[in-house]
Amino acid sequence: MVRVVFVGPPGVGKGTQAAELARELRIPHLSTGDLLRAAVAAQSPLGRQAEGHMRAGGLVPDDLVLQILQERLGRPDAAGGFILDGFPRNPAQAVALDRITPVDVVVAFDLPSDVLESRLVNRRVCPTCQSVYNLLTQPPRVAGRCDRDGTELVQRPDDRPEAVATRLRVYAEQTAPLRELYRARGLLRAVDARGTPDEVRARVRRLID
Ligand code: AP5
Repeated sequence: MVRVVFVGPPGVGKGTQAAELARELRIPHLSTGDLLRAAVAAQSPLGRQAEGHMRAGGLVPDDLVLQILQERLGRPDAAGGFILDGFPRNPAQAVALDRITPVDVVVAFDLPSDVLESRLVNRRVCPTCQSVYNLLTQPPRVAGRCDRDGTELVQRPDDRPEAVATRLRVYAEQTAPLRELYRARGLLRAVDARGTPDEVRARVRRLID
């Protein structure tokens, strides 16, 4: 059983790593970004409240995110461990997480800013199955189409340059300080996120195992 938190700037590769590692470790990948995007797509009341914040690149209010996360963490598959991707994102959320569950390790991803921006602007996603591609490093087999279901790939609304700038600023101001908090508790493990997804995954595995 391992309870892992992933912390890192937008586009660093948290979702890519979490998806594959969760499969390898047989634990769920809990992404608050994915949960919120699903709520937006379903146009649930919570999704409608979250949508504008996400599109602009800001954080969704803590009470909404907490609601969606608590529901997900309460499901039986999370009882045997999890990879939490994108939560906590500010000190108040870290306090809230402490009340819900202990954490065994916090993996903090590091990447130079030019590589980060390239990963973000070249990301395309499948609106049907949520598969993530990169035009440079992980392109689809047929240009513009999802390998799994053939759906036309789209750019996330928050991958537009204005929203990206806001997300990077919000990360630096609100989320990056969590590294110190978890370092002080002896839980932080920093990982170099350069290189191929397989290379990064091998590094993360060494930190978790
Ligand atoms: P969220 O979905 O969590 O976005 P994020 O943290 O900004 O992270 P990203 O999904 O952009 O990047 P990633 O690190 O997962 O990178 P990926 O693997 O896709 O949150 C979105 C929004 O939801 C937030 O802005 C906020 O509004 C809201 N939200 C979510 N959680 C919240 C919370 N707790 N509180 C409040 N609001 C919240 O990779 C990026 C690209 O690079 C892809 O194209 C990929 O194919 C490629 N790539 C990945 N790894 C490699 C590699 N090793 N080499 C080459 N290319 C690679």
